[in-house]
Amino acid sequence: MWTRRTFLRVGGALGAAGWTARATDTLAAVEAASAAVADRTPDEIAQDEFFWREIQEAFALDRTLINLNNGNTCPSPRIVLDACKRYMDMANMLPVHYRGQTESHLQTVRRGLAKEFGCDEDEVALTRNASESLQIVQTGLDLKAGDEVITTDQDYPRMLTTWDQRMRRDKIKVTRLQFPVPTTQDDLYQRFERAITPQTKVFHFCHITNLTGQLFPVQRLSRLARSRGIVTVVDGAHALAHFPFRIRDLECDYYGVSLHKWLLAPIGNGLLYVRRENIPKLWPMQAVPERQMNDIRKFEAIGTYPTAIRASVAEALAFHQAIGAERKAARLRYLTLRWANALKANPRVKILSNLEPGQTWGLAMVGLDGIDARALSQFMMDRYRIVVNAVVGGQPPAQVFDYTGLRVTPNVYTTLQEIDTFVDAMQDALKNGVPTSTGGRGRTGE
Ligand SMILES: Cc1ncc(COP(=O)(O)O)c(C=O)c1O
Repeated sequence: MWTRRTFLRVGGALGAAGWTARATDTLAAVEAASAAVADRTPDEIAQDEFFWREIQEAFALDRTLINLNNGNTCPSPRIVLDACKRYMDMANMLPVHYRGQTESHLQTVRRGLAKEFGCDEDEVALTRNASESLQIVQTGLDLKAGDEVITTDQDYPRMLTTWDQRMRRDKIKVTRLQFPVPTTQDDLYQRFERAITPQTKVFHFCHITNLTGQLFPVQRLSRLARSRGIVTVVDGAHALAHFPFRIRDLECDYYGVSLHKWLLAPIGNGLLYVRRENIPKLWPMQAVPERQMNDIRKFEAIGTYPTAIRASVAEALAFHQAIGAERKAARLRYLTLRWANALKANPRVKILSNLEPGQTWGLAMVGLDGIDARALSQFMMDRYRIVVNAVVGGQPPAQVFDYTGLRVTPNVYTTLQEIDTFVDAMQDALKNGVPTSTGGRGRTGE
């Protein structure tokens, strides 16, 4: 068991300078903490504050603020940021030499990501973010006038905008499906199945949405699509490194992710998975010679870019592995259940995410009857210094949905005290109301 005694023993095992060295040695500290609890289940470790204290120590944060908007972009652990700065300094010594060298080492990053997330390294392209990954696919697929894309009204606004632009430019048809939240995997499957027409060429949907974290039946939808000659584009911006799965098991054609979200890589990192047989068929966003058409790296050909940012993904991956994907998912779920269970008995509290096991981890949404979500998020900031995002639906071309609330996204460094402060703040709002506000933080679930 990971007790105060083992906690101290591990500290000692790091050597005489163990505690003082921690700032530069967090990976070893996290690995040691994980080794010390190796015989316990992820759910047990999720509740072990001594273990999570080690993880919290790995970050340089502003603890005067409580960050419950990790769904936007997450801070990187110190070791990741340090690595990034090191590579940046190195590149700057003689850019043409060192930048090129670092670039040639990026195969290690591609290989590491592929191994961890379950696909082949020559199916993984390194990009700048999920927007770029998905837009490579959205703009690179051969579609002609009349071809139909089926997506949903709760897909990410930029991705919807990209399809809208193709609609204007190439006269394709875009069908957006509506669905209630939370809903079942069967319901989502059936909505897509019913919507198929002879013109349908593409399914585009989220693995989990950025709004309520609604989980989609990716494998079933991919199989359905393949059986009808339809390709699947999956927006995994919020799924990868958040809860464990293997990309290949999803059986989709394309999968786009931001690595500066749940993998905690420096801002400006993304991943695009392209199923092997699709690589030659998909046009890259920036042109490449014909001989490169079979090479996944054609999607990385974007001219000069900061290799340091990309290289430090290796450190973020090592940090993720040191915690362990299962432990991380269990902790995120534990944090979510802590606030949701504390609030849900109140009839004015509407939990808009499915709290059953295997459905929700660190991204969930809550609305309060009679309280405007934007005013509530402003109140959270003004009164409690909590950064949390209001989710409010819009009109096309934006996301369209009829619920509002706060999208709550803690992270591995979130403390129980921070979660409990959020609960107190929500109780305060329920009891005393919140000032009306014209501002409010956040827009549509970013
Ligand atoms: C579901 C979803 N897709 C795509 C994106 C785009 O990510 P990025 O801004 O990192 O490109 C986001 C960002 O929040 C998202 O939530």
